[in-house]
Amino acid sequence: MDYKKRILVTGGAGFIGSHVVRLLTNKYPDYLVVNFDKLTYAGNLENLSDVEHKENYVFFKGDITSSTDVKNAFDQYAISDVIHLAAESHVDRSIEGPMDFVMTNVVGTVNLLQNAKDNWNDGDHVFHHVSTDEVYGSLGEEGLFEETTSYDPRSPYSASKASSDHFVSAFYHTYNLPIKMSNCSNNYGSHHFPEKLIPLMILNIQNNKPLPVYGKGENIRDWLWVEDHARAIDTIFHNGRIGESYNVGGLNEWTNIELVKYLCQLMDKKLGRISGESEQLITYVTDRKGHDMRYAIDASKLENELGWTPSIQFEEGLEKTVDWYLANQSWIEKVTSGAYQSYYNEMYSNR
Ligand code: NAD
Ligand code: TYD
Repeated sequence: MDYKKRILVTGGAGFIGSHVVRLLTNKYPDYLVVNFDKLTYAGNLENLSDVEHKENYVFFKGDITSSTDVKNAFDQYAISDVIHLAAESHVDRSIEGPMDFVMTNVVGTVNLLQNAKDNWNDGDHVFHHVSTDEVYGSLGEEGLFEETTSYDPRSPYSASKASSDHFVSAFYHTYNLPIKMSNCSNNYGSHHFPEKLIPLMILNIQNNKPLPVYGKGENIRDWLWVEDHARAIDTIFHNGRIGESYNVGGLNEWTNIELVKYLCQLMDKKLGRISGESEQLITYVTDRKGHDMRYAIDASKLENELGWTPSIQFEEGLEKTVDWYLANQSWIEKVTSGAYQSYYNEMYSNR
């Protein structure tokens, strides 16, 4: 078939990537969506079981740090556009071992940029780089991250993402590569690997395990429904201006302890427990090293310029998320078997 676009979505088997692949595959039958993923511990093709049979979807197992893998994918599918989500994404893992983050997030991104530059001599192309608000560092009590906020990454994860953002920008300025960039706040929703706060707490509440809250639980995160992030990527990819970056967020700040307590109450109801029972599981543990205090995003550029707004309130999204985890035990068993257990013991047993 003569597809209008042939989009390489890197990291399409991960949490956010699978939502982006699902949206594109369903919404644009005239696009070919090539899910390029190494299938690390965080990538799971079952995340896409509802779209894998579609004619306009293909999976390519590859590593973004391998020039051969990336070149083969570009050649085989005549890639016209890239939406780049593949990354090592967990701050705690980056503290334990930064080098994988440098390899995938920095070297892998430059490898993709290089291939796009070599392949796209003319015509209508977009390289959309998906990044995080963590590149801006940590906020005090006041203020929001804007697109013009100076970069000040403080964890190995955010340093690697900041570096990748700079390379993306450098390829635009130096080689005129048609790039777009988005920096989003913390996502939540279905298919979220249970190393991150919300899915980890849901699983531990369900299994009556301690709920490890770092430090005093006073750190603040700005949470966004993952499907709203996927919609924002769709909007920016199609309508955003070349060379621009857009912040994505929902003005939805919660301290970690407020959020964990809210989840406890919600799950008490879902599991038929007496009110307050799950809160007993809260355990304050040693703080994360260099723990950023507060993230909060000003998404007004995206809202005013491109008309995007979040579609769902946090309380409703959290309930949907909890329901999804309770209804998808086989997914949980699959992703938490094997390596997850040793990760969990290493990260939490002596904390
Ligand atoms: P994730 O860890 O769930 O998924 C990452 C995916 O990338 C996995 O499918 C994994 O197999 C794949 N991958 C990793 N290394 C690879 C490599 N070398 N080659 C090919 N594939 C590889 O991550 P996520 O939470 O879905 O995040 C996706 C992107 O969005 C990342 O770039 C992340 O920095 C960014 N982001 C995430 C959040 C969030 O809250 N999760 C917020 C803002 C931005
Ligand atoms: P996380 O989901 O790892 O996202 P990020 O660090 O990228 O924001 O963590 C969200 C917040 O929750 C962060 O302030 C750290 C905290 N946290 C805990 O208190 N306990 C945990 O077990 C985890 C994983 C995170």
